[in-house]
Amino acid sequence: MKIAIMGAMVEEIEPLLENFKDYEEIVYGKNRYYKVLYKNSELYIAYSKIGKVNATLTASTLIQHFGCEKLLFSGVAGAIDSSLKIGDLIYASSLAQHDLDITIFGHPHGYVPEGGVFTNSSKELNNIAKEVAIDLKITIKEGIVATGDQFIASNEKKEWIAKTFNASAIEMEGAAVGVVCDALNTPFFILRAISDAADMDASFSFDEFLKSSAKVSAGFVISMVNKVAK
Ligand code: ADE
Repeated sequence: MKIAIMGAMVEEIEPLLENFKDYEEIVYGKNRYYKVLYKNSELYIAYSKIGKVNATLTASTLIQHFGCEKLLFSGVAGAIDSSLKIGDLIYASSLAQHDLDITIFGHPHGYVPEGGVFTNSSKELNNIAKEVAIDLKITIKEGIVATGDQFIASNEKKEWIAKTFNASAIEMEGAAVGVVCDALNTPFFILRAISDAADMDASFSFDEFLKSSAKVSAGFVISMVNKVAK
């Protein structure tokens, strides 16, 4: 089986490459993809660079060019749900684009004609995540994740996203990956470890905790790959 493991920033995939050690680097579409032979599977690891456009390109390349059949995303997010603390893990049950706005035509925020507001992730992969959390004796939360091309560092904006999408966490790639995977019939899983609270201190918190939270997320995904790879 070919499995994609994707992050947005180099810090989000570095712990994966350090773990798997032996990889081949392939350059395609101005990006680097790292191929790892694992059990009877091939893993394709890449970071997209920040934002929905880059995430769309990388997810699409992983599936359409490299032939990946499942996609696992690992990275960090800002917490909207106040019970989520730095380093806590949350996977997306569904995702929405909070910055997509055609409300002037009477549609809800995040709505795309012929699409919808939310994209659901794979129940099968989410169940594997729950099993892994039990095995590792750690807590993982499930919730709606809101995605947009903005780093959110304001209580007002955060509250608006919470109210409008009932979201638990905020980041900048997940919903784009979801749209690609849904269109291409590829089961996907979006995992995030909290790096900040999307408030006025968010940029400082992000800088401080990006690496440690990215490592928590990557560690969990490594345990999942062990169960997913055939
Ligand atoms: N990723 C991590 N923290 C974030 C935030 N506050 N806003 C958007 N994306 C993020």
